[in-house]
Amino acid sequence: MKLEYKESFADWYVHNRARFTPTNAALFSTLQKVGVRGRVLDYGGGDGCYAERLIQEGADQVIVLDASFPMLQAGKKRQEKEVSNIFFEAARGERIPHPSETFDLVFSNFCLHYIAHSAQAIREVCRVLKKNGAFVGTVSDVWLPMGSESLEDSTLPLTFAGGPPVPTLVKTGQRIREEMRAAGLRVVSWELPPNPTAAMAEGYPERDKIRIRSGLFVARKV
Ligand SMILES: C[S@@+](CC[C@H](N)C(=O)[O-])C[C@H]1O[C@@H](n2cnc3c(N)ncnc32)[C@H](O)[C@@H]1O
Repeated sequence: MKLEYKESFADWYVHNRARFTPTNAALFSTLQKVGVRGRVLDYGGGDGCYAERLIQEGADQVIVLDASFPMLQAGKKRQEKEVSNIFFEAARGERIPHPSETFDLVFSNFCLHYIAHSAQAIREVCRVLKKNGAFVGTVSDVWLPMGSESLEDSTLPLTFAGGPPVPTLVKTGQRIREEMRAAGLRVVSWELPPNPTAAMAEGYPERDKIRIRSGLFVARKV
């Protein structure tokens, strides 16, 4: 089962977006420490709800890249006034349509765990980053107990802020960090800020064994 942000889900997500923000304070405090400047890619940026904030923090230009046309459309609709330095781009993160070494910063809030080939996605992020550029963002970092490792890369129903179950790939933080290093990124920090809104869906048999955490990461292209 694969989640696509089709019109109905995109509409639900955008209207409930404000409920998914418990990690925002930690995320923006980290971004301020890293520094936001130059050309920024908001990777899996959905409706671009962070783009204006990234401009306020110091970006010259933000490109919101997302695979879901309805999510991008929602962003364009919401952005009533023309903001000349925010652009929406429909593309898959496994194949970023930009030349190598284009961006000073790649930002990504809760996207990587929807991508089956996250290793390929992370290689692409690394390719489009300038040397020493930063990759900052969040990902669902699932903790699996001994004996449940085979669940990695399977799709489990998660709920966010009490919403409908969302099919989400199981990615452990350890795996994502390995994929970052293999791509040529140095993992500078990996924190686990509280995110009480994410949970396994009610009724899932392994519900009590698995912990859904949020990984807040900073990585740099070496
Ligand atoms: C949880 S939403 C996060 C959206 C936005 N970053 C935010 O915080 O509101 C995940 C987003 O990842 C996008 N996405 C999933 N797979 C993708 C892929 N392969 N390439 C690009 N975007 C993808 C979805 O369309 C969706 O907009």
